[in-house]
Formats: sequence, C-alpha cells, structure tokens
Amino acid sequence: MSTTLRRPSTEQGRSSDRTAGPRHFLDLRDFDTATLRQMLDIASGFKRAGRVTSRPLAGKTLALIFEKPSTRTRVSFEVGMRQLGGEVVVLSDKDSQLGRGESIADTARVLSRYVDAIMLRTDRASKLHDLADNATVPVINGLTEASHPCQLMADVMTFEEHRGPIAGQTVAWCGDGNNVARSWIEAAVRFDFTLRLATPDGLRPPDDLVAWALGQGGRIELTDDAMQAADGARCVVTDTWISMADEPDPVRHTLLAPYRVTNRLMEAAAPDAIFMHCLPAHRGEEVDAGVIDGPRSVVFDEAENRLHAQKGVLAWVMGAAR
Ligand code: CP
Repeated sequence: MSTTLRRPSTEQGRSSDRTAGPRHFLDLRDFDTATLRQMLDIASGFKRAGRVTSRPLAGKTLALIFEKPSTRTRVSFEVGMRQLGGEVVVLSDKDSQLGRGESIADTARVLSRYVDAIMLRTDRASKLHDLADNATVPVINGLTEASHPCQLMADVMTFEEHRGPIAGQTVAWCGDGNNVARSWIEAAVRFDFTLRLATPDGLRPPDDLVAWALGQGGRIELTDDAMQAADGARCVVTDTWISMADEPDPVRHTLLAPYRVTNRLMEAAAPDAIFMHCLPAHRGEEVDAGVIDGPRSVVFDEAENRLHAQKGVLAWVMGAAR
C-alpha cells in the first residue's frame, strides 16, 4: 500500500526511549529479533487454532483510527480482535473531533481512558509518535508515509510458510522506495536476509534508513536495474505506483515503468521464486496480470496473513501472550 514520501528521515519526531511505557508496535527496528519472532510464533499458533481460540483479549477494546482508506488493515484488525474475544471502535478523522482540530495528544489521553490499545493509519509518522508519546495504552502503526510494519509481519510469515526460514535468503524489491519498501529494509535487518532494492532516481529509500540498516550489519543492496535485483532472488516484491489518496502521476509512471514485475523479470529470479504484493494492485502498471494471477503469486496468502500476524501483535502488545 503506497503513500507519498514527504519526509526524508525516519528519525524525525521519534522518541528514543519508550521501554518503561506501554508496549507500542511502531516500527520493526524498535524490536529485537527474538521479540518479533515471539509475535510471529503467537500468530502462527492462532492461525493453527483457526477461528476458535481461547479468547485471550476478552474484555479488551481496540480503537482503530483511519485517516486514510483501508480494506485489509481495517477488516483484519476488526476480525482479528473479535476472534481473540475483544471489541473494536472504528474512528476516522472525518467522523471524530480529530477532523475539527482536536490534538493527537488530547485524543491519546482521552482514548487511553476508554480502550486498551489504539491503531492509527495516518499520512504523518509524527502523528503516530505523538499518539504513542501521549497514550497510556499500546499504539500500533497501521501505516504511515514512512512505514508499514504490520504488513511486513504478514510478509515474513508468508515467505516462511512457502519457502522456509527467510534468514539467508534474497528478496528483490522493484519499484518505488516507499513506506512498504522501508519496512522491508527494517525486516531485512531484523530477520537477517538480503534485500535488493531496484528503484529509480528520486524514488529511493531515504539515505538515513539505508545507513542505519548497513550500520546494523544489514545486507541492503541498491540498484536502478530491476533485472539485477531479481537475479536469483527467492522472492520478488512490488507495490502500487499510485500513492494513497493521490491522483495518478504521469511522471512517476514513466519513472517506474522499467520496474514493472513481468514474467520476464520473474524468469531472472530463482526457479522457485514467489511473487508478493501488499495489495491493492494495479495490473498492467507495477505488475503484469500474468504474474500476480500466476502460479508464483502468493498475494492472497499474504493478505490472509495480515489477520494472523496482527493477532500476534495484538496479543503481544496487550500482554495476553508473553
Ligand atoms: N496492504 C494494506 O495495507 O491494505 P489496505 O490499504 O487495504 O489496508
């Protein structure tokens, strides 16, 4: 799910130490590998258990705030919370006082009196961090312009279900160095795989994030050549070129056209390479129909795993699984 990158730094507005407060889920880089693995293990357990679980979140309520559209994130959080025995309240900026200028900080303080966790989808990471700084309950990142960590939990889960441990593997990202690409970079560091990003000039992931990843020992390779990125990769990933709530942009379209995932590009990948896309997709733009609807595509397993992965995150942030 793409959204326009408006800020070059992932560091701006980030609080440095939240260790003593609620268990927020803001970005993958905030966690060590063992903790992320713990959440994925919980998620896999819930998936194996099916819809009938022990209802570990009975009596808990999750607020979902959407300042941007959603299908998968909204439905998977709502259904997941209910399957765990909890309740949800859904708000948007349009139907709450947020749209009339009430501050994020006051919203955080008020909602913390009513609910047990808050998920926010917004176009400004600074709002997410403001929410987390002022909430006394866990805050979950449901997408900002800078990252989409819930998506990556589902993506790592999906890769591993299809191809085994992701550690040591190579994943190729082709297209816009957007919020999802940024979370792939953080995932590569935390889950120990090589990430090759093929992006055009002007749409590369931010230098400071790449520098952080390399400084952590991450295997991040940048190129402007999609074929070079895909060469031998076990997974090829892309995302829409149309930023959420933005109009189609002919300049971006021209820049990104060489990065479309085609059958020819998939042929350059490993013989058993899978194709992933967080959806929604635009067939004929970032991916050909023959790829996304073909045998290598796992995009609907990936979408399903949003439900399971988020159940792992929900249980973890609310302390229902330790
Ligand atoms: N992938 C994703 O976040 O989908 P939605 O925008 O539909 O939530």
